[in-house]
Amino acid sequence: MSVQAIPRDYSLSGGHQDAVELDDDRIVERMEETWWKPKLSRQQMREIMQRRDGPALRHYSLWFALLAASAYLAVVSWGTWWAIPAFLVYGTIYSSSDASWHECGHGTPFRTHWLNEVLYHVTSFMTMREAYMWRWSHSRHHTHTYIVGRDPEIQVQRPADLLKIAMDFFYIRSGPPEVWRVFRNALGRPNADVLDFMPERELPKMYWSSRIYMAIIAAFAIWSIAIGSFLPMMFVLLPRFYGGWLHQLLGLTQHAGLGEDTYDHRENTRTVFINPVFAFLYMNMQYHIEHHSMPMTPFHALPKLHEAVKDQMPPPYKSLWECYKEMIPALIKQATEDPSYKIIRPIPADPEPITPEQVAAPEAAGEWVEVCAVEDLDEEDVIRLDHGSRTLAVYRLKGDRFYATDGLCTHEYAYLADGLVIDGVIECPLHNGRFDIATGRALRAPACDHLETYPVERRGNTLFVRVA
Ligand code: FES
Repeated sequence: MSVQAIPRDYSLSGGHQDAVELDDDRIVERMEETWWKPKLSRQQMREIMQRRDGPALRHYSLWFALLAASAYLAVVSWGTWWAIPAFLVYGTIYSSSDASWHECGHGTPFRTHWLNEVLYHVTSFMTMREAYMWRWSHSRHHTHTYIVGRDPEIQVQRPADLLKIAMDFFYIRSGPPEVWRVFRNALGRPNADVLDFMPERELPKMYWSSRIYMAIIAAFAIWSIAIGSFLPMMFVLLPRFYGGWLHQLLGLTQHAGLGEDTYDHRENTRTVFINPVFAFLYMNMQYHIEHHSMPMTPFHALPKLHEAVKDQMPPPYKSLWECYKEMIPALIKQATEDPSYKIIRPIPADPEPITPEQVAAPEAAGEWVEVCAVEDLDEEDVIRLDHGSRTLAVYRLKGDRFYATDGLCTHEYAYLADGLVIDGVIECPLHNGRFDIATGRALRAPACDHLETYPVERRGNTLFVRVA
């Protein structure tokens, strides 16, 4: 049966009637009231979000060793039939750079910030996702997950294009347009969707980064031509195509066949148990509902987060097979009969809400308002202070240093007190924007505007902040 329905307009700039209008109220409503959040105590959240370098150093040591070993086998087997399995292994590991692009983009694998950034840029190139553009794109994906007309990363659009899905096991349909997009950006001619989610001030960085990507690819292409062999190209760019099967196999499980335009990640996202080898290459992204619910969770802590919230989640799929057994018929149905069809997951009733740890100060309390007792704040901790219509974040850093800033992120709508304090920096819980706590200076995109700061005083055992 052919599909009669008019395809939905998934472009960000199309102005289709299905697109969700975005204005400040809408963001506030969605972030504050509508997106479902797991019920966890502040203490549990802090423990789960804690950053460490050790797990990521071990992970990347093994990952790069496997990549180098498979590259060596691929080179020495070139010209023999053994090159086929050798390059398949190399290409599969190379393409798993996509997981690293994703995790480092969130800034969570390492405690040391520059390590996240270096790995982010290296693996962004490997997976052919230009680093600056995709950082903004992915922020939008997290704010508007599977909201049609707002999310630039809806992988399977409706009606489902089964041929595209199949071809993308070797990145054949999505890869060339992505390379073309980098090329356009290198020329300084981004398309309308990119302009929709990238602020103008970030565009020059994207242009220069795209030019570097193109220069590296051109250098390898010239090398290949010069020696009359495409062997050099087998190590850059092409692996993302011939080795892309695992990326597609796992990536499809994240959202395909589930709901759109819902504000509950349990309805549009999956968690699927997979084998340890895949989990290693995928950096635990199989815990995908958990990831969307708390994007600040480092990859190594996702199993712990899963344990903490599993009673609030739909049951995870026990295997890829169990997932695909349900997903394939659903995608066929979306492609051939009913584009609006979606898989509905069982969602448990919410437990009693945990009262958020925040302080409400009476507006009429004067210039200096009482925040809390000193012992209510641990070291490297933050608490939210509501004062009239204003929200502040009050911090305790190492060495009993106390600070206060605006309590809402300057990028979108997120309470900074739900974020993570780390080495004098507050990380926003929504897109990992970073601010210097002492000065309020924005340190990391997508947060670009600075925070106001406020004086804090310790009087005996009590903290006061001057809000006027
Ligand atoms: S809301 Fe996006 S970085 Fe804070």
